[in-house]
Amino acid sequence: MRFENIVMKSITVLLLAVLLLFSCQQQQERQYVIGFSQCLDNDEWRRTMIREMERELSFHPNVSMITKSAGGNSTIQIAQIQELMDQKVDLLIVSPLEAQPPTPIIEKALDQGFPIVVVDRRTASQKYTAFVGAENLLVGQNAGIYANVLLNGQGTILEVGEGADTSPSLDRHRGFVEVLQKYPGLVLEESLIRDWTPQEYEEEIRNYLSQHRDIDLVFAQNDRMALQVFEICEELGLEKSIEIIGVDGLYGENEGLDLVDKGVLAATVLYPTGGEEAIEVAMDILNNRPYQKENLLFTTIVNGDNVRILKQQASKLIDQQANINRQSARLADLNETYSLQKNALYVTILLLLLVLIFGSVLFYLLREKQRSNKVLAVQNVAIREQKEEIERVSQQARQATEEKIRFYSYMSHEFKTPLSLILTPTEDLLDRKAFDRREVIPVLTLIRKNANRLLRLVEQILDLRRIDAGKMELAAETYDLVEFTRDIVQDFKMKAQKSRIDLQFVSPLTELPYTFDAEKLDKVLFNLLSNAFKYTPDGGLIHVSLLLANNEVEIKVVDNGEGMTKKDREQVFEIFYRAQQNTSLGSGLGLALSREFVQLHDGEIYVVSEKGKGTTFTVVLPHRSVVPSTGKSELPHFLRHSPEEFGTPNQYNDSQDNGEGASLIIVEDNPDLLQFLENKFSVNYQVRIAHSAEDGWEAILQTIPDLIISDVTLGGEDGFSLTQKIKKDFRTSHIPVILLTAKGGIESQIEGTRAGADAYLSKPFNQKLLEQKVRTLLDNRNLMRRRFSNEITDLDQVPTDERKFLLDFELLIEKHLKSPALSVETLSQEMGMSRTQLYRKITALTNKNVNEYIGEFKIKKAQQLLTDPLLNIAEVAYALGFSTPNYFSTFFKQKTGKTPSEWRNN
Ligand code: FRU
Repeated sequence: MRFENIVMKSITVLLLAVLLLFSCQQQQERQYVIGFSQCLDNDEWRRTMIREMERELSFHPNVSMITKSAGGNSTIQIAQIQELMDQKVDLLIVSPLEAQPPTPIIEKALDQGFPIVVVDRRTASQKYTAFVGAENLLVGQNAGIYANVLLNGQGTILEVGEGADTSPSLDRHRGFVEVLQKYPGLVLEESLIRDWTPQEYEEEIRNYLSQHRDIDLVFAQNDRMALQVFEICEELGLEKSIEIIGVDGLYGENEGLDLVDKGVLAATVLYPTGGEEAIEVAMDILNNRPYQKENLLFTTIVNGDNVRILKQQASKLIDQQANINRQSARLADLNETYSLQKNALYVTILLLLLVLIFGSVLFYLLREKQRSNKVLAVQNVAIREQKEEIERVSQQARQATEEKIRFYSYMSHEFKTPLSLILTPTEDLLDRKAFDRREVIPVLTLIRKNANRLLRLVEQILDLRRIDAGKMELAAETYDLVEFTRDIVQDFKMKAQKSRIDLQFVSPLTELPYTFDAEKLDKVLFNLLSNAFKYTPDGGLIHVSLLLANNEVEIKVVDNGEGMTKKDREQVFEIFYRAQQNTSLGSGLGLALSREFVQLHDGEIYVVSEKGKGTTFTVVLPHRSVVPSTGKSELPHFLRHSPEEFGTPNQYNDSQDNGEGASLIIVEDNPDLLQFLENKFSVNYQVRIAHSAEDGWEAILQTIPDLIISDVTLGGEDGFSLTQKIKKDFRTSHIPVILLTAKGGIESQIEGTRAGADAYLSKPFNQKLLEQKVRTLLDNRNLMRRRFSNEITDLDQVPTDERKFLLDFELLIEKHLKSPALSVETLSQEMGMSRTQLYRKITALTNKNVNEYIGEFKIKKAQQLLTDPLLNIAEVAYALGFSTPNYFSTFFKQKTGKTPSEWRNN
């Protein structure tokens, strides 16, 4: 189940529980309202009744009572009953003033569903729910019986009462009369029962008693009226002769019990107020408990015999009631505290519930947030992975494209050198007027060699394509691998002899039948050996070994040549690595293909090499068991190793140029091209050759040549870098440089120009064009020299780079001008050059030797000084470092045709 469902269900259950709790509480505490219609409220009896009711109600905090007093008026009482009905009280208690008047409204109320409890006095009908009160007939009878006792059957009696139409006065009178009739000696002289005011009553009684002083006994229908009778008797001095019987018997000072106890009254008939009982019955009715319709209260005669006990009982009752009152007050307090605490508890529960709900909601939201965060995180990761994947794929695509472009440009470059070695001699041949076989053969050999090289490149590309397409298959046959390897090594013997290289094949095996693709393995070994020869200097060693170890065939090609850097080692077998490097590790795609071929044989090839120490290539092939019956095949004959590939000394020399004897340095790493160019230019120039930029730079500093031709792509430092070096060094900055390159792009040309090259030719170049360039650059140099030699101090004519050199040189001459020891030695030392370098540099720039240049500088300076009239000839001579004025004059005349004096006076 989902968490939110659990939370929602828990909250609902909790809410229901709380609602239930509240509703139970409300049911327990259902509120009732009792309407009490009281006929009177101005005497102690009525007040006692009310007190009792209230005390009883205090045990029922859910019941309240509305009391309305009619003040002794039936009309008012009827109206008040109606009001209570309108107020929708739950129960009516009525103490009717008179029996007849309220009967209809009480019957109506009963019909409308109001429970009616009639108390104390009765109505004119039986239509009510319950009655609570003493039997007034019995009260009258008790009074009659006790009158007889007092009067001992003989005497006159006065009866007094109030409320002529009320049920108590009617019933009490009836009961009293009933008993008196049984005793003929007892005479009821008068029955004064009326609706009177207390004054009327007092006056009437006083009148009556003063006129009837023989009255023996007065029956007063309540203790209040009885006391008034006693007081009147006292007034009239009759208190001793008249016995008085009252009704009610309330407890309290000057109330019934007290009056009996004091002897004021002879007796009183107990008439209980019944307030407590009335509420008890009402509660039974309201709570649907069983109840009695007629609830008659106990009544008895109270006289001197029992008044004490009754008083004590009443007193105790009063005490208990007071106690009850206190306790009920305390209970009310406790109730209040309880209800406060209960409310506090509810509030706390409610708050707890709210906290729980909000906590749950917050927890839920948190969980949701965490969950959505998790989802987001997962999505993020997925997106990032997708992005990375896209980037990776596009990077691969870009790399693949770049590699392809690099591959094509590399291959074009690889094609250009052999092409130019085909085209250039071909054009050369075409230009010839006559063909001497001896001269033509070397040229054609060169052309064939390079055509073969092109063919090999094409084959390599095709092999690569086949490997790429997965179509390269092994054409395996069983041959003797020892013989096979030895044969290949043998093919290199001649080349080894020429270069004085110690080439050896070593194997502990006399033969090793092995199943392999001879053409492919031949290419591998040929490649490894070519490579070794390429990087092994004359006099070095190349050893090839073949042995069987750990059930593997191991062929090693070891040389002690140049060796490789770590980076070269790591990537020597990568097809595209070579394409982006300026190095020449092997030729063409040989090593990359070699690895593919070895892997096709389930073998491995690896290299161990250290710069400066040599290289070992190892081919490891699994030793397959060969079924002897198959025998071994005749070794195929691969015509791969044609003699010209090993660089037959080239006598090719066809220059028609009539040289001027200028010195050239040619820097080129391709030995064929280098030889071709050397042959061409050595006819007219003094040619020095170098295979690398490093060797070239050494030669340039040694000879300070008149012109340099350099290839751009050289092993190690390239032609651009060499050109820059030449142009930055003031010893060589004047030498024109021609760059040759297979890189024909405009960017390469710009790079060449930026490096300071004076001319730039793309391969395959036209030999005539190159020769023309050489001539033009040398001619320009001569022109410049001639100009400098004529205008030695006009440095504006000198190219910017060289101007600084000449200015520095002239400043140096000026510095040492006075010294007779001023010499080429001193100047070259201070210029940081050798004597030859300085000599050749100054000659190259000015066509003068250093001494001539110094002499001419002195003449110019002398002419300047001679214009100063303050200097005499001797001073000028000494200022210019001449030991005597005569020597100066001779020197000056030799150079200018005039003596210093003649020149000054001119
Ligand atoms: C008080 C009283 C009592 C009497 C009762 C009868 O109002 O007169 O003295 O016993 O009413 O209803």
